[in-house]
Amino acid sequence: MRIVTSVSGMQRLAKQWRGHGVGVACVPTMGYLHGGHLSLVREARRRVGRAGKVVVTIYVNPTQFGPQEDLSHYPRDFTSDCRLCRAAEVDVIFAPSDQEMYPGNAESRFSTYVVEEQLSQGLEGAARPTHFRGVTTVVAKLFNCVLPEVAVFGAKDWQQAAVVKRMVANLNFPLKIVVAPTVRERAGLALSSRNRYLDAAQRAQATILHHAIQRAQAAVKRQAQSAAQLKADLKKFITTAPLARLDYVEFFDPETLAPVTKVFCGAHIAIAVFFGKTRLIDNGRL
Ligand code: PAJ
Repeated sequence: MRIVTSVSGMQRLAKQWRGHGVGVACVPTMGYLHGGHLSLVREARRRVGRAGKVVVTIYVNPTQFGPQEDLSHYPRDFTSDCRLCRAAEVDVIFAPSDQEMYPGNAESRFSTYVVEEQLSQGLEGAARPTHFRGVTTVVAKLFNCVLPEVAVFGAKDWQQAAVVKRMVANLNFPLKIVVAPTVRERAGLALSSRNRYLDAAQRAQATILHHAIQRAQAAVKRQAQSAAQLKADLKKFITTAPLARLDYVEFFDPETLAPVTKVFCGAHIAIAVFFGKTRLIDNGRL
């Protein structure tokens, strides 16, 4: 396994592979890898086979964090990430520095952003106004470094995957986006690097997100629901976890992300809940 830290080094390698007709799959991450990330690595390998190359990018991207968010203490453990990637037979870790990705004084030298203007507006985009601009910008940059033919994203961040798919289609990136299912703990909590912020009591109650999704699934299975009524029911349900503070619960079309007023089978639910300062998100198909 190689570790590449420069943009030029990654591009050189990617062009060599392309020249030899080698398929490349990319898994963009912010590191502190867990079983969710590793499931994306396995999916990446399935897509390109043994003859292809799997590149995991590890970069905590400052432009997708808001001023009040957790950039400075976002968890990092590069040694463990390398060990996990080696065990998962990753070919290359691309781990650029901030200086490599946003050289010089960011204000004066970095001035080009990629902005998706539709799918990024609601849900996480409404709660975190500059977040998706940072995501689309860094993902476009990572694609231009790794030159993959396929990139794998997690359904855990449903809106992110939708926004990236739209960017790829609109800007004609020559690659396919694959979305892999959410990996959960046995009790239902979706794996997330941010789970490490939770204390024992918060962690025990954090399954409320998954249980709320299951509750909505059961209700919709019985009959179509009014979104307003189901929202009110879930708000109340979430108060049964006293450490949880609901940020939002929304029902929407899984492709367009447009809100729905009547919730049928096949609609999607997304939930964001604070436990102390830690903000967890989850989603599911109803
Ligand atoms: P990060 O939060 O590290 O997640 C990297 C990828 O892993 C994303 O595609 C995310 O959806 C996926 N993922 C996270 N938890 C998962 C789980 N429990 N099951 C399945 N997949 C999971 O998302 C980002 O980083 C960044 O925004 C990034 C795309 C790298 C841009 O900076």
